[in-house]
Amino acid sequence: MSTQARGGDAAGTGAPVAGAAGSDPHAVPDLRLVGLRKEFTSQDDPHTKVVAVDDVDLELPKGQLVTLLGPSGCGKTTLLRMIAGFEEPTAGDVFFGERRMNQVAPNARDATMVFQSYAIFPHLNVYDNIAFGLRLKGMKRSDIKARVDRVVEQVGLVGMTQRPPSQLSGGQQQRVALARCLVMEPRMLLFDEPLSNLDAKLREQMRIEIRELQQRLGITSVYVTHDQVEAMSISDVVVVMDRGRVAQVGSPVEVYARPVDRFVADFIGKANFVEATAIDAHAIEVDGARLEVPNGVPHPAGAAVTAVIRPEALLIERGSEIHAPLRGVVERASFLGQLAEIAVRAPGDALWLVDVPNAAEVGMPEVGETVGLAPSPRSLHVLPR
Ligand SMILES: Nc1ncnc2c1ncn2[C@@H]1O[C@H](COP(=O)(O)OP(=O)(O)O)[C@@H](O)[C@H]1O
Ligand SMILES: [Mg+2]
Repeated sequence: MSTQARGGDAAGTGAPVAGAAGSDPHAVPDLRLVGLRKEFTSQDDPHTKVVAVDDVDLELPKGQLVTLLGPSGCGKTTLLRMIAGFEEPTAGDVFFGERRMNQVAPNARDATMVFQSYAIFPHLNVYDNIAFGLRLKGMKRSDIKARVDRVVEQVGLVGMTQRPPSQLSGGQQQRVALARCLVMEPRMLLFDEPLSNLDAKLREQMRIEIRELQQRLGITSVYVTHDQVEAMSISDVVVVMDRGRVAQVGSPVEVYARPVDRFVADFIGKANFVEATAIDAHAIEVDGARLEVPNGVPHPAGAAVTAVIRPEALLIERGSEIHAPLRGVVERASFLGQLAEIAVRAPGDALWLVDVPNAAEVGMPEVGETVGLAPSPRSLHVLPR
């Protein structure tokens, strides 16, 4: 089966380009994958095949950054390696613009890859690491220097060019790896979990820098990560992958607010999944309460559905008189600083995860307390059960 790269509506049947606003819908996509598939022979049993990438279609306009997001083993690296040319597809095609790339060697593809392991040469200093690819191409010394100086500035390594890699922090090494790619002035940048070896603070800083640089230079980029926050924060387009297939393609807001299925909803952030019944095109029933769904209920009245409600979309009501449509008893309450995470047990036994902002000011709900819950209607999203 083929999964289409589509942005647009929740069912994934909208305009055929994974596009953010502003891109020309008639322009030839800078990257186009058509029915791309990779089967491996299982490492455990030579008679079985593993389908690592299952007929993926994708179109990416020039200058955009797409992330391939999904759990470990879902095929992200294999897909990226087929784009780079390190892995030959079992079926399907890779196009850069109009050109079919299947038979083009990796070093002739004009796409460079930043690896998680940095892959920089330990015996070369920063300058020589960055200049390496240009020297291989036989570029003139003075031209090399001009280009290296420029990227050294771009990635923030000024003053460090004479250092050996052993004297660099993890973040600086990753900058060298990035500079070594940028200096080639590639058509496309490929990233395979480039920040996984860095600590949380640095990871956040580096992803902002990478995004800023990518946008400023307008380089089409494919970025592999299993971290949904990283994916949402840097992407024009997110491709959520599940066991080799594309589960959903959309903008960060689309995949978060309108996931096509439970897998996507669950993988991208926290979610309450609540059994409900469709009342009409704009309302559902949960635990005997009528909840309005302004975004619409695309199922016939009486249909069993699942409501997806993000923890931050549940407003908590405290006090002796509760007006909220849902209620329950606080079972857990953890204060995390910027918010508190509460778990509320509903009469129908559902457990609601609720984020309470400003808990330090408004007071922490207490375990055993009965509270009301009001879902913010616009954030209610309904899936078939
Ligand atoms: N060279 C290989 N031989 C056999 N199986 C492989 C090979 N490379 C990857 N796989 C399998 O393909 C699937 C996808 O792997 P991979 O693309 O590395 O996933 P991800 O990057 O999302 O973690 C996994 O089941 C993995 O074990
Ligand atoms: Mg991988």
